[in-house]
Amino acid sequence: MAPPKARVQIAPSILSADFAALGDAISCVQPVADVLHVDVMDGHFVPNLTIGPPVVAAINRHTPMPLDCHLMMTNPGDFLSAFARAGADWISVHVEVDSTADLLAEMRGLGLGVGLAINPETPFEAIEPWLGELDHVLVMTVHPGFGGQAFMGEVLPKLRRIAGAVAASDRPTIVEVDGGIDVHTIGQTAEAGASCFVAGNAVFRAPEPATAVVELRRAAEAAVGVQR
Ligand code: DX5
Ligand code: ZN
Repeated sequence: MAPPKARVQIAPSILSADFAALGDAISCVQPVADVLHVDVMDGHFVPNLTIGPPVVAAINRHTPMPLDCHLMMTNPGDFLSAFARAGADWISVHVEVDSTADLLAEMRGLGLGVGLAINPETPFEAIEPWLGELDHVLVMTVHPGFGGQAFMGEVLPKLRRIAGAVAASDRPTIVEVDGGIDVHTIGQTAEAGASCFVAGNAVFRAPEPATAVVELRRAAEAAVGVQR
């Protein structure tokens, strides 16, 4: 029997929101979205600087949504406990950063949802040994660093392999995609096995962000034949 299809989850990325009105942007998507994606960039692992634990703490006071913190950092180990204290629920560190075993163990010890992110050019083999330990795997479909980039379709074969390995295991690891996801690209990633979809520009640059979330969910569900 085929494994049950994972529930579609939409994760708006606040990177594309108006930072001067972040609370309003979050309130707008809260009734229809599942998790809130928070991009943390250190100006070193990626050529951009964004958000740290104090902002995550403020967001956490503002919304009950689970906070999915994507740490694009060279030294995430120095900040895991600060993000946990700030109210992060899920954390992804990059597999391209060293000390993966220690980082995953520390995240687990802090009670966080344990995730690993993988860049477009990093091969399946780099993440394969860790899949059995993850709550979520974040497959980048753009080079990390900026919102609003074009979706990289060449990542789909790797996404399919990751989702296949997850489906063949006993662990209900969430397969999450990030970068260039919109109503035109989301279906391809859903067919390839993703069930959690990060979307920045497609949500917060849309005229009505809440409607955009609903449309993204509908497009993902239509691609995998979910009956509503
Ligand atoms: C890119 C970030 C993404 C970004 C996605 O480095 O990891 O989460 O916010 O933005 P869009 O959906 O606009 O590509
Ligand atoms: Zn991200």
